[in-house]
Order: sequence, then C-alpha cells, then structure tokens
Amino acid sequence: MAEKTYGFAIVGCGVIAPFHARCVSSIPNARLCATVDTVREKAEKLAAEFGGEAYTDLAAALARPDVDVVCVCVPSGLHAEIGVQAAAAGKHVICEKPIEISLAAADRLIAACREHGVKLQVISQHRFDPGMMQLREALEAGRFERLVLGDAIIKWYRAQKYYDSGDWRGTWALDGGGALMNQGVHYVDMLQWMMGPVEKIVAKTATAAHDIEVEDIALALLTFKNGALGVLQGSTAVYPGLPERLEITGTGGTAVVAAGQVKIWEFKDEKGEAGAYGSKVKGELPAEPAAAAAADPAALQVASHRAQFVDLIEAIEQDRQPAIPGEEARKPLEIILAVYESARTGQEITLPLAVGAR
Ligand SMILES: NC(=O)c1ccc[n+]([C@@H]2O[C@H](COP(=O)([O-])OP(=O)(O)OC[C@H]3O[C@@H](n4cnc5c(N)ncnc54)[C@H](O)[C@@H]3O)[C@@H](O)[C@H]2O)c1
Repeated sequence: MAEKTYGFAIVGCGVIAPFHARCVSSIPNARLCATVDTVREKAEKLAAEFGGEAYTDLAAALARPDVDVVCVCVPSGLHAEIGVQAAAAGKHVICEKPIEISLAAADRLIAACREHGVKLQVISQHRFDPGMMQLREALEAGRFERLVLGDAIIKWYRAQKYYDSGDWRGTWALDGGGALMNQGVHYVDMLQWMMGPVEKIVAKTATAAHDIEVEDIALALLTFKNGALGVLQGSTAVYPGLPERLEITGTGGTAVVAAGQVKIWEFKDEKGEAGAYGSKVKGELPAEPAAAAAADPAALQVASHRAQFVDLIEAIEQDRQPAIPGEEARKPLEIILAVYESARTGQEITLPLAVGAR
C-alpha cells in the first residue's frame, strides 16, 4: 500500500507558524495544504514560503478533503475556538501551548476531539529535548528513588516591545496570564511530568518591569501529591534571559537540566553515598555539541517540535493517543491557574481546581 501523505493546515500565521511549516516540510509524507489567518498578507506570506493555499476563511480551509491535520497557532485564548471547529470538520489537531487559558475552554477542546474521533496533540516540545528525555528515563528506571524536591526556574526576558508587538500579548483575555502562562508553561509541564501531580500551591506574583496587566514575575511553593516539595519561578523581567532550569532531587540523586541539556547528573547508584557533609558538585557539565545543528541549524531549532508532529502521524496510524494529549496538557494549565488564584487571594490553593475558576 502506498504511504499516505498527510495534509496540514496552519491556522494563525504569526511567530510560531513557520516552525510548524518547517516541521511539515521536513516530514516526507506530510504536506502543507493551507495557511489561514484573519490577516490575508500573513497567510499569503507563509504559503509563499512553504507552500499551500492562503485563506482568511477557516471554514473554506477546513472544507478541503486533503487537509488531515490542523495546527492551531492563534493567540492562546482562541485555541479552543479554532480547535473545536477543526475537530468538528473531522481534522486531527496539533495545538500550540498552553492548551487554552481556562479549564473550561481546555475541556471543550478535549471533548470536541473525543466526540469527533480525532487526535489532539498539544505542543510541549521540551519533553523531547535530549536532556529532558534522559532525565525522564532515569526517573522511570527508579534512579531518583523517592522524589523529595523539584524546582522549575524560568527566568527569561521580554522587552516591552515584545508585549507591544501584538494586542493579545500580556492580556488576561487572550494570553491568559504573563510570564507563567505564556513562557513558564513549558517548564511547569516538565516539572509536573517529572514530579507528578501537585496537591497544594501558595504563590505570589508581580508586574515589576513592564507596562502590562499580567504578571512578569511569578513565584510559587508547591506540595506534590507524593509529599515532595518544589519551587516554581517564572519571569520575563530577568535581563537578558537566563537558561531555563529543571532541578529534580530524590533520595537516590539529583539531576539538573538547563536549556534542554543535562548540567548536573549525580546518582548514588553510580557514585555511592557521599561523606557526612556531602561533596559539592564542582561545576556544571559543558553543553553537548548538537550533531544535527552543524548540518542544518533550522532542523535543530524544530527538532523537538518535529518529534511531536511525527508522533501525531504515528498516533493516527496506530490509533493510539499522541504523546501529549489534551488531558496531559491540561495539567500544567491547572497548576498555573492555581498559582494565579493563590496570588490573587493570598490563600494556599488545593488542587484540583473547580472548572469555571479562572
Ligand atoms: N511552543 C513554543 O515554543 C511557542 C512559541 C511561540 C508561541 N507559541 C504559542 O503559539 C501561539 C501563537 O503565538 P505567536 O507568538 O505565533 O502569536 P502571533 O501573534 O505572532 O500570531 C498569531 C496569529 O494568529 C492570527 N489570528 C488571530 N486570530 C485569528 C483567527 N481567529 N483566525 C485565524 N488567525 C488568527 C493573527 O493575525 C496572527 O498572525 C500562542 O498560543 C503561543 O503561546 C508557542
């Protein structure tokens, strides 16, 4: 049987759209059929570079029988609106992070994909970074033993002009929050993926360095269901932006991943118990030379995104759940919403949150 070619439509032709287009171009049995944006020139520009026909009318693009998968690359608070229409048209969905900005909207999208029998893959590309996969493997092998402490530190920088570059950026209505909802969500997902579900959150947020309505600093103390504790720090006020870090400690050892690469890797099963006063790690591991980068830097840039595209095609063919289905992507969203609720009320928040809470 000839291999099927999967047709893709990209809806929302802004900053992230070319990443999706590059993923599609790099997969032999994938083809970009349609680009959709409310701004015609944006759809046309993407189509001119990567192929496909440009649309401003979503329904017209969804009516194409050769479109199998719709990439939802619109502002975060419109993900469900677009994704539900795609699902209703029988198209599989690749949705950008965060899945949505409220649990109710996320649930609408999840339900629509289930009802119409299509797959929903939500982008959280850092799960496919080499260091993150290595950490997860060690976790599954039990090398951490009992998890006790997990921190995610996302100290990035966005200039005011970033927020001024799109009228949805930095708004409650469409960004759904600031440093944590938009940028921090990546490593909030890594943290919960490694540490498991969160039970309680106490948090503070601030808008310290930007003229925006949402936070540019978010700090939270987490209690995980397994009894471990953790710290979450997210910011877009830290000039010029530091590598994001995930620090996981169990009774069996510690691993730190920064910018997708292992920086600290210390396990008792390999190195034995330390002396009474420990033995402080001397420094961090150097960055691994990235093999693919030398040949094609653009390929490396999209490698982790691409892994999710390939996984979705396999999920369709094997009729299984994709690597990051909607239910999985809902978890970091719920944690972030709980951070906001704690910061707003001054209370410690217990999860799960009621749907309908912001
Ligand atoms: N995974 C990542 O690393 C990553 C990086 C950047 C952005 N994102 C996510 O991608 C999404 C888009 O972000 P961006 O930075 O590309 O935003 P953007 O503002 O650059 O692009 C959004 C585009 O959507 C279009 N649009 C708005 N409403 C529309 C509608 N109803 N129908 C069709 N098009 C519409 C806009 O005209 C714009 O071109 C966000 O959810 C963001 O969180 C993810």
